[in-house]
Order: sequence, then C-alpha cells, then structure tokens
Amino acid sequence: MCGIVAYIGPREAYPVLLKGLKRLEYRGYDSSGVALLNNGLKVYKKKGKVAELEESLVGKDLHAHAGIGHTRWATHGEPSDRNAHPHQSANGKLAMIHNGIIENYAQLKNELLKKGYSFKSDTDTEVLLNFIEDIQINNDCGLEEAVRIALKRVVGAYVIVLLDEDNPDTIIAARKGSPLVIGVGKGEHFLASDASPIIEYTKEVVYINDYELAIIKADELVLKNLGNEKITPFVQKLDMELAAIEKGGYDHFMLKEIFEQPDTIFDCLRGRLDIINNTITMAGVQNNIEQLKNANRIIIIACGTSWHAGLVAEYIIEELCRIPVEVEYASEFRYRNPVVHKGDVIIAISQSGETADTIVAIDKAKEQGAFIFGVVNVVGSSIARISHAGAYTHAGPEIGVASTKAFTAQLVVLTMIALKIAKEKNSINEERYAHLINELHNIPEKVKEVLLINDVVKNIAVKYKDATDALYLGRGYNFPIALEGALKLKEISYIHAEGYPAAEMKHGPIALVDENLPVVFVATKDIYHEKIISNVQEIKARKGKIIAVISSGDEIIPAMANDVMIVPEADEIVAPIISVIPLQLLSYYIGIAKGCDVDKPRNLAKSVTVE
Ligand code: F6R
Repeated sequence: MCGIVAYIGPREAYPVLLKGLKRLEYRGYDSSGVALLNNGLKVYKKKGKVAELEESLVGKDLHAHAGIGHTRWATHGEPSDRNAHPHQSANGKLAMIHNGIIENYAQLKNELLKKGYSFKSDTDTEVLLNFIEDIQINNDCGLEEAVRIALKRVVGAYVIVLLDEDNPDTIIAARKGSPLVIGVGKGEHFLASDASPIIEYTKEVVYINDYELAIIKADELVLKNLGNEKITPFVQKLDMELAAIEKGGYDHFMLKEIFEQPDTIFDCLRGRLDIINNTITMAGVQNNIEQLKNANRIIIIACGTSWHAGLVAEYIIEELCRIPVEVEYASEFRYRNPVVHKGDVIIAISQSGETADTIVAIDKAKEQGAFIFGVVNVVGSSIARISHAGAYTHAGPEIGVASTKAFTAQLVVLTMIALKIAKEKNSINEERYAHLINELHNIPEKVKEVLLINDVVKNIAVKYKDATDALYLGRGYNFPIALEGALKLKEISYIHAEGYPAAEMKHGPIALVDENLPVVFVATKDIYHEKIISNVQEIKARKGKIIAVISSGDEIIPAMANDVMIVPEADEIVAPIISVIPLQLLSYYIGIAKGCDVDKPRNLAKSVTVE
C-alpha cells in the first residue's frame, strides 16, 4: 500500500528510483512521483501509472545523487497530480514521501491553518510535512530534531522519507507500522518498502523497527530511537535472487506465480517433510510443542486470501488435532472485545507480514496473554518479528496483486503444522499420518499435472468472459476454495462473484440461478461427493451454466456440467491445494479476455498497510 524508494550515493539517483518504483508498483499505482536534489529541490509527479511519470520526464535534466520516489494508493484525497507524492513543504525546502495514515491529521491541520499555512493537496502527508517544517522554524532546529518532535505528536502509521534542500547529503527516514528496508552498499544507501528495488545493488540490508529514525548519508547510516539514543544497525543478508522478482518470460506476474507453484510448494516442503522416516521438521512448532498441543483453542487471524487459508486450516486442525479452532477477520477481531485466554494460541497468517489489521489484532491478542504463531511469507516482515514463533511459507516474492502461490504455500505449511501437532498429541493414527505425509510429498507433481489443463481453462474463460455474476460452490475442505475462487474472479475481472457452501445455496442464492448464471462447483472426490452431485443437479434443473473442478475418473459430473476442469485425485485434506489452481487460471484468463490489467487490478494494492 504505497511504495517508497530512495537513494543516496555516487550513482544517478533517477534511474534507481524509476526502476524501484516499477518494482514497487504492485503496492499502489494511482499516481507516482520523484524528488531530486539537483541544485535545489526538484519535484515531479503525475497521476496514473509509473510509465506515465516516466514519459512526462523524458528530456528533463534529472541529474542528482540523492532522491526519493513514491507510487501511491490513495487514502486521503483522490488520485491526482496534486495529491501524488512527494509533497513539498510550504517554504519549498523539504520534500517527503509517506506510506501509511496520519490519524490525527485533521487536528494538526487546524493548528497549522491557524498559523497561516495553506495546503496544495488533500493529503495527510502534506499536513505532517508542514507540521515538521513549522517545528523546524519555531525551534530553530535541524530536520532530524524536528522530525523527532513531530513524530511524538503523530497518531497513526507511517514510513516517511525526507529530503532537505539545505542538507543535500542527508536523507532522513522514520517508521511506525509500515515497512522500511535500507540497503547498505559501498558508499551508497537505498531505501524501499521491500527489498525488490534493492536486491540488484546489494544484499546487505537493515530492517527498520517501529519508532526508529534513520539518518542516512552516502557512506553512513545512523539509527536512533525517538529519544535520540543511538541504536546499532543489525545488517542482514537478503536471501533472494533478482530473477525471483522478474517476469521471466511470462506476460504477467500472476501467471508466472501460478506456474511457479510446483516449485514453491516443493521449496515449502523441502527440509521439512521426510517421507523415509515419516517426520516433519519445523523448529517453530517443535520448540513450542507443549504450548501448541495443549492449546485450549486456536484462533486464526488473517485477511482476504490468507483468511481463506485459515478456513481450510480450521477444518484440518479440528479434524486431525481435535483442538477447537476459530477463524477471525483481523479487522473485526481488533475492534471488538474478543475473549482471549492465556492458553489460547493465535495463528496469524499473512503473505506480506505487513497487513495493518493483522498486526494490530496480534498486538491485542498478545496483550491478553495469547501465544502468537506467525505463518508468513516475507522474511523479516513485521508479523514475523512480532510473533513468538512461526513458520515461513517460502513461496518467494509474490508480486501479482492477487495472491496465488502464497496461498498454496500457506495451505501446505498449515497442513504440516496440523500433522505435527496431531502426531505429538496422538490424535492421529500411524497409518493416516504416513498416508498424509505421502500425499503432501506428491503435491508438487500433482500441481504440475493440473497446470497441463492451462489451455482447457483458457478456452472455458473465453466462454464466460461476458458474465456479470458468478456463483462458486463447494463443501467441506473445498468450501473455502469456493470463496477463494470467487475472490480471485472479482479482483481480477471485476465480475461480481460469491462463494457459498454448496448446501447453503438453497437458503437464498439459488434465487439468482437462471440460464445466464455461471455456477462454478469445486467438486473433487471426497466424502461429500454424492451430496455435491445433488447440488449440481439442482443447478442444472434451473438451467444454470455449470463449470466444475472434478477429480480424474469422475464420470457423473461431466455428464451434467457444461465445462469441466479435471485435476488428479488427492486425499480431501490436501485436495484444496490442487483444486484452487484451475480457479486461479480461470480468473486470470477471464481477466485477460476482458482486457483487465491483471497484475494491477483497479483500487487494489498488494500489501494493505492501512486499516
Ligand atoms: C487477494 C489478496 C488479499 C490478501 C490480503 C491479506 O488476492 O491478495 O486478499 O490476501 O490483503 O494480505 P496478507 O496475506 O499480506 O496479510
């Protein structure tokens, strides 16, 4: 949610910023801009995607060795040139980019208005910037001190990065609640919302913590807390390759990431699943096994697609571990007054590890004594750091805004966690345990097999591209997959879609069914198969168009359905990992057939760092 990038050092800053903004565009893409220190401060910004900014700057003198850049996802103020970042302070000497929300901006704005300030934009960012400028002028202090004083008054979440015309050799940055990584090069520094703009230049990085301030020169990085005490920067090595953040011959990141799934699932299993000795090695689970297996209750907290992974995990954990599980939207959990006890375990699921609602929900549960186990993809992210223990999903960088490979990796990790707890708890018999280990082991090959139906799905997509609505139905472990399929279709193709438990359809949604409504069944072979066949018949009787994900060997549903997507048979516990893949492809190809920008769907951003 908003991407920020900055550079100081001997290179030309603008090309570094531009490339960085393109890599961060998945975080927001309604406008973008750069500020460069080049004989004074120069600010350029433009509504629209980064390419439009780039085009508008052709022919301009952009020479500079220090600069900041921003790609925006609007919160305060419509997408427009004037609301785009960077913002410039009233006296024109400071430029700032911001990711987050300043909640008390209205109060700060009123104070500044009374002092005679006027504003060029509708943003909370410009308010904070002028607030900093005002402190600097009134206290006759440097920018560093003014930022420190200002941030003590700020309520909200932010990463801010500032350039000061009077101090062209220094960039100042601060963070609370939004992500910031600093790349440490030889005589140069890079700043970004995630490591993707940095990886090309250096693998040495420092993750900035909340309430920390960074004072950065080309050859010096000083970290301080808001109390002005120095903190020693902890330099880490990035475990990421450049190829992982490029399209690698695919038209879109989404398609690349769908096709990466045999590898990402393999990576997720690697070193953990041992089918010779029938063991699962997960240090985060093993080291906390008493806490986990004796949990009174597990509460899963997540948003969006990660929440759907949580719903699948609820079914699996209750089945295998016999521990009661509740699945909560982080945004609801954080604002209600939930009952959480010391013996409760929270499993927080997040691809980015930066989702604001999930972070605050974790803090709330922590305050009430719960043990927090994070299932996170981005290494070193906020959720990874605030959890007591956890397991990474190892899916690699996910750039497409719609989550695909991170979801299947979450399902794999959650299944392994459940199996490991069940084994330690003796709530699973040896035979079933060994069978499920074997099933997990076979998943990468089965996913490869599913991907062979790519062309079949592409043809189906063309038939349904003009639908205005769609219904997705599933039962048991496949019910959350129906929800996920519907979410993917909505976000990528803007077709209204709803997911339901197949049996629930009779309690309302069936009224929607007519000859124009596509109904997507997730109907792989499991204990509910006969029941879902009846549901398919009910839709057929009402002339709905039936598209079904079925297991190979199913001869009943093809006779009733308009279109089928056949996947290999699998145990019902691991079936969701397979059955979701045709639905990812279906939404991708419908989006493409409709001419949608599938990697950057309208109004969305990859990492939702505002509430
Ligand atoms: C949908 C999607 C979102 C995210 C949600 C949570 O395709 O990507 O629904 O799943 O914003 O994000 P994370 O997992 O980063 O916490």
